Amino acid sequence: MCGIFAYKGKARKLFPQFLCDGLLKLEYRGYDSSGIAFVSNQKIHIYKEIGEVKNLQKLVFKNDLSSKVGIGHTRWATHGRVTKKNAHPHLDCNKDIAVVHNGIIENFEIIKKDLIKKGHKLISQTDTEVIPHLIEEENKKNKNFTESAFKTFQKIQGLNAFVAINSKDEIVAFKNGSPLVAGILKEGYLITSDIPTISEYTDRLILIKDNEGIVIKDNNIFKIKDGKIKKAKVSNIKIQKETSDKGKFKHFLIKEIYEEPDVIKRIAQNSTEEITEASDLIKKAVGTYFSACGTASHAGIAATYLFSKIAKKHVNFSVSSEFEYFQHFLIPQSLLIAASQSGETIDTLEAIKAAKKHKSKILALVNVPGSSIERISDFSIHLNAGPEKSVLSTKSYIAKLSIFLLLAYKVADKYKVGQKLLLETSNKIRFFYKKEYIQKIKLLAKKLKNQKHIYVIGRGLNYATALEAALKLKESSYIHAEGFAGGELKHGVIALVEEKTPCIAIVANDDSKNAILSNTQELKARGAYIIGISPINEKVFDYWLKVPDLKEASVIANIIPIQFLAYYLTLEKGLNPDKPRNLAKSVTVK
Ligand code: F6R
Repeated sequence: MCGIFAYKGKARKLFPQFLCDGLLKLEYRGYDSSGIAFVSNQKIHIYKEIGEVKNLQKLVFKNDLSSKVGIGHTRWATHGRVTKKNAHPHLDCNKDIAVVHNGIIENFEIIKKDLIKKGHKLISQTDTEVIPHLIEEENKKNKNFTESAFKTFQKIQGLNAFVAINSKDEIVAFKNGSPLVAGILKEGYLITSDIPTISEYTDRLILIKDNEGIVIKDNNIFKIKDGKIKKAKVSNIKIQKETSDKGKFKHFLIKEIYEEPDVIKRIAQNSTEEITEASDLIKKAVGTYFSACGTASHAGIAATYLFSKIAKKHVNFSVSSEFEYFQHFLIPQSLLIAASQSGETIDTLEAIKAAKKHKSKILALVNVPGSSIERISDFSIHLNAGPEKSVLSTKSYIAKLSIFLLLAYKVADKYKVGQKLLLETSNKIRFFYKKEYIQKIKLLAKKLKNQKHIYVIGRGLNYATALEAALKLKESSYIHAEGFAGGELKHGVIALVEEKTPCIAIVANDDSKNAILSNTQELKARGAYIIGISPINEKVFDYWLKVPDLKEASVIANIIPIQFLAYYLTLEKGLNPDKPRNLAKSVTVK
């Protein structure tokens, strides 16, 4: 989380606007506040604003200063509330050093106490602010900015990336865990938090490894390894071009939901090679484990059911943030399949690192080629879902499910059956996008908009749908929603159901049907208002959203009406569908 955008090179006109343009591309990483600092006339100029980058743009729009060096930051708050004071960049006592930072400095309190003892004045509640003051302190000893920044980097603990500038036009950056990459332009260099942000400017990149840094001196870029300056290796990486284009749609969320039938079709038609390689890995592995976070984790849970049902194969799943606690049985022959849209999620990266300690093989499923997760994995499959810009994951979830379904069929030596089922799914879900269907969802959104709680139940494969449905509903509308395995209700959850409590039942036409219908009856008997998502309009439903009967692919189709519902709920409640509060698209803190 948090986005970093920095430049050093020939002087650029309208420098504040240039930095803001870069930050706009990174806004999905956090939009609590944003800020820039740049050098003009040997002085650091600094601007900060709360909320989206457009607020910062308004603040600087009349500023026509040019500059050779500057840094920008979009914040997702970790330490300290969302205030101007806590917004980055942060300065040292002399306002001569400015720093932007992504990550968490685990030992910042001890460092802060020590700095205050030495007479430093820290004005924010952030962990970041210790960095410029530590550099200032080191500078007193060695007068070398790069060396002072390196010494500072060695002192901070945790997963971090930072870029520091001073009023003498110097710039230096370091990273450990948090992402950071540099790009070579004709007239200078960029440093940012992710590769796609650079795609508009260049595809000549310098990939910074953990515990390394970079410094730009005399129009050249160098790596810093173990405190020593070395030649930087340039990589040409084919980058997924960003489109900031919503086309005919008002929001990215709805645009991305509309792209889903084509995403499924593309995967069915173009994945043979990658799926064959992945299937060989699974067949050879002694134990296959899936790991992912949030929406991606629900695709992982679905995968365990798909592999059991289709491939008759036992695979394990753990959310990535828990993976390290049960890594102990991994062996070199184990296979970890890590799924991540952004390819930058720190918890997933940490799960991979845990598996790597045991020399296990890693297969990554990512939507962003060249991302950190792809780079540290042994093998990768691209989701090819196209850039996903809305913070709410939709089409990449559908893409992951489609790949897992194909993979399960391939492991069962029935690849063609899987391909056919996916193509059928891509066709049969197209009626969701018709006017009458959308109308029905809009009506439901109106009915639900003032509710405090919504419960979702599913069984078997569609247990994953229930979990994902609840996540989509709460992060879009801020209505409390929870997903359960239908059978779990009677073990406690049913106590929460009152007269007219909305409950969504995901009823697939499979071996779970009779049992989930019984669970739905149990809810109805307590007065619940039942919204059925099912191929057939069952008697127990008060409101019905039809879905096609797609056997194992029901897990792909059944979430789509809920994604639509989440979108229309945000409109009903006057919320921004693309930027829910407190969230970020790329979660790069632990
Ligand atoms: C929910 C959502 C998040 C992400 C999660 C993992 O709509 O988007 O739950 O799914 O943060 O992100 P990736 O897939 O980038 O690892």
